[in-house]
Amino acid sequence: MGLNRGIFITFEGIEGSGKSTQIKLLYKFLKANVSKKIYLTREPGGTKISEKIRKLVIKDLNEENNPLTELFLLFAARAEHYDLIKEKLRSGYIVLCDRYLDSTIAYQHFNGSIDLKLIHYLQKLIDKNIRPNLTILLDANPSVSKKRMHLRAKKLDRFDRESLKKMNIIKKGFLAIAKVEKKRIFVINGNADLDLIHDKIKSKVLKSLIK
Ligand code: TYD
Repeated sequence: MGLNRGIFITFEGIEGSGKSTQIKLLYKFLKANVSKKIYLTREPGGTKISEKIRKLVIKDLNEENNPLTELFLLFAARAEHYDLIKEKLRSGYIVLCDRYLDSTIAYQHFNGSIDLKLIHYLQKLIDKNIRPNLTILLDANPSVSKKRMHLRAKKLDRFDRESLKKMNIIKKGFLAIAKVEKKRIFVINGNADLDLIHDKIKSKVLKSLIK
């Protein structure tokens, strides 16, 4: 569970699931109605060094690189970032993080070749097995997500170009984690109406804040 006073909330889902839109909506809502101490961040990234690593992972690495290179870079970024998250939680912030450990399990283990034990070993070195207090999983249909991504104006990166088959493996990976960690992970249909999803997230988060 969380550290001392703050609350750690993560958002997970496949590309185009709408999580980045929803996390920003939640950020605005909490900042306007709940507290000024809301911290919005993302993985890979979140610190100067970790954002540099993000660029390496997303733009410079490709399928020909050793999967361990990607894994170690992701964990290097997380080691730096977690220090900042810990600091924010200790100062009483609600930390909202776009992707975290579940993405590593879904992408590097379920869709990749990385042993789950290795992921948990590295994770434990960083956060001593402290898990987010709440994880919002936006479970979207990969073909709908792909359409959304193509409608976005930005250039597609290598993760965005993932095949439907791979996106399905990642989606199933997330759902498998959610099945085991029912208390932490709240699954929402990512293909529902944007406002409806926002309302569901708000009520879940507000409940978890008064616990
Ligand atoms: P993100 O910025 O969420 O991409 P998008 O906004 O396009 O959904 O995440 C970047 C990519 O990093 C994402 O496609 C998945 C990947 N990723 C991993 O493979 N493992 C991880 O542990 C994390 C945090 C991200």
